[in-house]
Amino acid sequence: MSQVWFITGAGRGIGAHIARAALQAGHRVVATGRKLAPLREAYADVAPESIALVELDVASEAQAEQAVQTAVERFGRIDVLVNNAGYGQLGYFEEISADAIERQFATNVFGLMHVLRATLPVMRRQRAGHVFNLSSIGGALGFEGSSVYCASKFAVEGLSASVALEVARFGIKVTVVEPGFFRTDFLDNSSIRYGDRAPDGYGDAGPSRDIYEGYNHRQAGDPAKLGAALVQLAGMAAPPKQFLAGSDALAIVGEALQGRLDEMRTFADLSRSTDGVF
Ligand SMILES: NC(=O)c1ccc[n+]([C@@H]2O[C@H](COP(=O)([O-])OP(=O)(O)OC[C@H]3O[C@@H](n4cnc5c(N)ncnc54)[C@H](OP(=O)(O)O)[C@@H]3O)[C@@H](O)[C@H]2O)c1
Repeated sequence: MSQVWFITGAGRGIGAHIARAALQAGHRVVATGRKLAPLREAYADVAPESIALVELDVASEAQAEQAVQTAVERFGRIDVLVNNAGYGQLGYFEEISADAIERQFATNVFGLMHVLRATLPVMRRQRAGHVFNLSSIGGALGFEGSSVYCASKFAVEGLSASVALEVARFGIKVTVVEPGFFRTDFLDNSSIRYGDRAPDGYGDAGPSRDIYEGYNHRQAGDPAKLGAALVQLAGMAAPPKQFLAGSDALAIVGEALQGRLDEMRTFADLSRSTDGVF
């Protein structure tokens, strides 16, 4: 059955590939982005009846509400919401200013909340819908040099897991997507941000920056295949709550989960020791 997909940050990267995969499967797409010109360029070849291009900087609550309203006026419903827009604020925690942290949360967390809050009433009325929230392996474990980005993705995880419980009664499903390293502009200067302060003792720009720069446009994950996987998930009656994308994600998160279980068992007696005997 043909679905209506609403995708944030659809001008390039994973968002654009998800949009392409949805169109390929015969669905209609509301492709949103901060600027209309790149959207027009990215979807110039798509039949106008299959696509709506809508300006949306997710950091603006008013624009999020307007974009959702435009989508409903155009296609009558929203079956699948993909909260994809986001970027990485990297660098050691002490390198990053309060302003930069607020900007990271304004997009990755509060922006996602604005779009989600605007869309849920539509899905509730339909008594159906599927929300994909883009997290990261950085939403499942911490990484050196990524504290603020990871904090934003952990927020996405906590929000998604809790909202999923609240909206299941309306037939709305929520899936958190945790990609490993995917070949997009994510680590490019056009997207990534590094710290703007220089604290002593961490070494030059930090080893993690060299590692991330070394990965740029060499990542193993294929965003087109991630798009196809999401289309498959959106067709499932019982999709996962958390979906790991890529062999790297499976290995890294699997190891972290095992480590957490091991640590939990090691300290289990001390954990139980705090039970009250009132
Ligand atoms: N690629 C990876 O390895 C990877 C791994 C884990 C998670 N992710 C997550 O996947 C999502 C997409 O990343 P990507 O790899 O596709 O990166 P990308 O190639 O840099 O694309 C990011 C997209 O997000 C948009 N965006 C950023 N801030 C926005 C805002 N305030 N409002 C609306 N759109 C905004 C960008 O729009 P502009 O063109 O206007 O800048 C762009 O379309 C992100 O949430 C990211 O955290 C990526």
